[in-house]
Parts: sequence; C-alpha cells; structure tokens
Amino acid sequence: TETPLDASKVKIIKTNTPSKAQPNDQLVFGKTMTDHMLTIEWNRGKGWATPEIKPYAPLSLDPSCCVFHYGFELFEGLKAYRTSDDKISMFRPDMNMKRMNKSAARICLPTFESEELIHLIGKLIQEDKHLVPEGTGYSLYVRPTLIGTTNTLGVSVPDKALLFVICSPVGPYYKTGFKAVRLEATDYATRAWPGGVGDKKLGANYAPCILPQLQAAERGYQQNLWLFGPEKYITEVGTMNVFFAFQNKETGKKELVTAPLDGTILEGVTRDSVLALARENLDPNEWEVNERYFSINEVADRAAKGELLEAFGSGTAAVVSPIKEIGWKGKDISVPLLPGEQSGPLTKQLASWIADIQYGRNKHDNWSQI
Ligand code: COI
Repeated sequence: TETPLDASKVKIIKTNTPSKAQPNDQLVFGKTMTDHMLTIEWNRGKGWATPEIKPYAPLSLDPSCCVFHYGFELFEGLKAYRTSDDKISMFRPDMNMKRMNKSAARICLPTFESEELIHLIGKLIQEDKHLVPEGTGYSLYVRPTLIGTTNTLGVSVPDKALLFVICSPVGPYYKTGFKAVRLEATDYATRAWPGGVGDKKLGANYAPCILPQLQAAERGYQQNLWLFGPEKYITEVGTMNVFFAFQNKETGKKELVTAPLDGTILEGVTRDSVLALARENLDPNEWEVNERYFSINEVADRAAKGELLEAFGSGTAAVVSPIKEIGWKGKDISVPLLPGEQSGPLTKQLASWIADIQYGRNKHDNWSQI
C-alpha cells in the first residue's frame, strides 16, 4: 500500500532572506514569486513522500524526464485574497483540487487527498502572508503543478512524479485592468474536441493556443474566441470560459448563456461561480440562466436584431473580462457597454458579487476557506 499525502508531516525550512512586498502598481501577473514553495515527491509503490515548504528555488531534473518529452504536466490556478478583516482566504480551493485530481487521473499521474493539499497550500500561504497584496483586483495567485519525473525516453506510465506549488502576488490580469476587449473569432484552429482533453487543465492544452492568439493580435484583437465544429459553436475565449447575454425582443425575457460541460470545456471555477450567483440572485421572471450550445451565427444574427446585451470571459486570473467587439467574417460584431463604462450592467453586477465574496465583504457557503 502507498503512503497517502499527509499534511501533518510537512517539513518547513524558512528562507534567510525574506523579501518585502512590492507596491501594487508594480505587480505584473505571474512575474514575481513569493519566498517559499511547496514540493512533494511521489513514487509508485511508495506513495507520497514528506511534503516540504522551503525557499523558492530552481528544480533539478534529468533531461530525460518524461515531463519534457511527452507532456506529463498539469496545473491549477486559484487565488488567495486579503479580506476586509485582514485574514487570508482561498477562493473555492476544493473545486481546484477536484479538477486537479481529474487531470492527474487522465494522464496517469498520481491522485491525492484534496483536503491534505488544501492544508499544505494554506501553510505555504501563511509563510508568505506578508506578500499577499491588499485591495480590490489584487490577490495571491497560487499555482499547484504536477509533473511526471520518470527518467526515460520510453513512453510509459510515470513511476515518479513531483507536485509543487508556487505563488505569485498579482494585480489585474490585463495591464489595462477591467477593460473591455476585442476578440477575433477563430474557426481555422480548434482548441478541444469530443473525446479529447479540453476539459482537463493540462499544459499541453495551452501551448497550441498561442499562435491563433498572436494571429488575432496582428489584426488588432486582444484575444481569440474559440469556435467548434461546422455549427461554429462558441466554446471559450483565450484561456477563459465565456458568457453571453441576450434579450428576446418578442417576450422581453433575458438569457445568460455559456457552453455546456460536454468534455470540450474547461470546468472553470469562476464559470461555476457566475452560474451559481446568477441563478441565486437574478430575478427568474426576468432572466433565464442556461448552459447550452450557441453559435457565432446566433450571436451575429441576434446582434443584428438588437438582441445581444453583453458578453464576458470568466477565469481565475482575470475573474470577469468584458468583451466589446468580436471580429467575424471580416466585420466586427459590437457588444453594447454602459455609457462611458467598460462593461454592461450584468457583467458589472456579477464582477462585484464575486469580488464581495472573495474579499470577505459578503459570505457564500463554503466558498472562502481560511
Ligand atoms: C485563468 O485563470 O483564466 C487561466 O486560464 C489561467 C491562465 C494564467 C492560464
């Protein structure tokens, strides 16, 4: 039997050179890391070794390691927030742990007790808690990562793995902050497909997505909108889930819609939070909240009829990212914004509901973990 992951065994080696917090206006997403990291080795047959929290440092890996050759890598992204009563709280870490275990199982890397890793991440954050920034839009981005470390060029099941967690104090994901972006709809490349791994947070899903983004950028768009299949279903935007709001002109009824979790969509924690808050707080006489297939053609047609209300991306990094234009077939579909503002009213409302919970100004069952 293999040793399970055990947070109580953690060995902590503190840095001799603690760093000072950077001013908020100098934080660039993911550029600086905190002073400590968490590492846990795993060996087949033995299980999880002693977790170690130690000074942040380069890893030493054999060049034949399977992570470098066959993509045995997966990651998570979650955030810890400095709340209004000056505590540090993680936002829905259980969701990330569940997804991380699903990703691990899919690529034959070891799974673990979610609660144990949450405890360990909590301890890691405590070591560097002075580096968690304060203020709306600012947080500590936590990056759990799991890699296969078997030294062999043979393609096989890894018998060694390394789980590590690093942390980065962050501000708004986009340098421009909460600012509506222009998207280019991409139909010449596909992010994910039925039976594939688009619903898993594998590093291998991200690298191939940069080129279409660069090509969109060359034409003046900040991000690309991922379409799927001959129907041109809308799936995701850049590295985020995506939501659209419509209003039926005949019935007056409004609809918030996002793609269903059919295996091609990343099971976003922010996506889930948006859906939950919309279902809990919006008036059902006014709004329907749906996970359903919808296409760029529907968006284009309904925009032309004046039925397109809003659109935004959702993800841990940017939280809610409003969309103002979508390039499609050589034209731009424009998404209405509040006069003089960077989003529509629902987008703004959802962003503030989420922020209120993240920063402890409001409570939601089990979403904040101290
Ligand atoms: C997101 O949080 O939206 C992400 O996909 C994280 C990104 C930095 C890879």
